[in-house]
Amino acid sequence: AQNALIDKFGRKVEYLRMSVTDRCDFRCVYCMSEDPEFLRREQVLTLEEMACIGRAFSELGVSKIRLTGGEPLVRTDCSELVRQLGALPGITDLAMTTNGSRLSKLAPALKEAGLKRLNISLDTLDPERFTALTRTGKLERVLKSIDTAREQGFERIKINAVILKGQNDHEVVDLVNFCRERELDISFIEEMPLGHAAGRSEERFCSSDEVRALIEEHYPLTASVAKTAGPSRYYQMTDSPIRIGFISPHSHNFCHECNRVRLTVEGRLLLCLGNENSVDLKSVLRANPGDIEHLKQVIREAIMRKPEQHIFSHNADVQILRFMSHTGG
Ligand code: GTP
Ligand code: 5AD
Ligand code: SF4
Repeated sequence: AQNALIDKFGRKVEYLRMSVTDRCDFRCVYCMSEDPEFLRREQVLTLEEMACIGRAFSELGVSKIRLTGGEPLVRTDCSELVRQLGALPGITDLAMTTNGSRLSKLAPALKEAGLKRLNISLDTLDPERFTALTRTGKLERVLKSIDTAREQGFERIKINAVILKGQNDHEVVDLVNFCRERELDISFIEEMPLGHAAGRSEERFCSSDEVRALIEEHYPLTASVAKTAGPSRYYQMTDSPIRIGFISPHSHNFCHECNRVRLTVEGRLLLCLGNENSVDLKSVLRANPGDIEHLKQVIREAIMRKPEQHIFSHNADVQILRFMSHTGG
């Protein structure tokens, strides 16, 4: 049997995004409703099941795993999962995307457990607006987490900012300056229409080209040739080493070079973010506990069904009703 995952379109899958919980202590307006319903414990993969799936993927040539949520750090056994995944020989890049609310406490343990890279969400530097956008978050705690993470010496820390017109678009340059001062990378993200988050509208949509134009009023940017294994297109500044990324599922399609699949908290393997096509790995595992060879065979077959591209757009007839917090972006 073949030990690399190559799909029908010749794309090699070497990156697994794993959502470890649908729960979150924030309620970001573009992500969740104010009063979300969370899954019951038995619906969610156990730590052992997640570790087993991680191992199967690593044996199939996946070298990069990113833990997402919800907010991964609300799951108390998250550091232990990091330790187990980090110990897999094939995994050279282990990363996490977090909202930063609990990170200042946990950053040392995570570093020690083998976490390499962190992406931290930060959409605004204004405390009131931060609480308005996240509904429950405190800016101060996230800023403290960013400081702690820097002190721990993670390989690369990246800030994620979703920009919404009329809400935080006037802060784009402030966010760039914040990252310049701390030598952090930053990605600006276009809002994606996932789930029924409140108040989503075409009016508040802010394209990457608009964000880039705002930055270029202050700083010249040059397109970077460095390719990462992600959807971000990166730009460089003339007088700072930081990278500025733009994640633009609407205005720039990157499906042809997609190298990733996602595992939902419920153990569904999603073959594409903007497409409901999935395979239920939880049932496979629960029917055949510990049978990693069988699991690998199911994964190999699943990859052959990876769709050619995502289908969402603001006017599409097809709306993806799944919440971001179940799929981890
Ligand atoms: P890397 O792992 O370094 O590539 O980081 P990343 O920027 O992909 O990860 P992160 O979890 O920080 O996600 C940032 C944003 O990118 C989120 O809004 C994700 O939903 C979005 N994103 C990540 N992968 C994809 C993808 O394959 N397709 C689309 N449309 N969006 C993605
Ligand atoms: N559109 C774009 N980005 C989103 N995120 C969450 N929901 C959405 C959405 N609907 C972002 C968060 C976080 C990353 C994991 O995904 O801000 O940085
Ligand atoms: Fe939580 Fe992240 Fe969703 Fe905000 S975007 S509610 S921090 S999962």
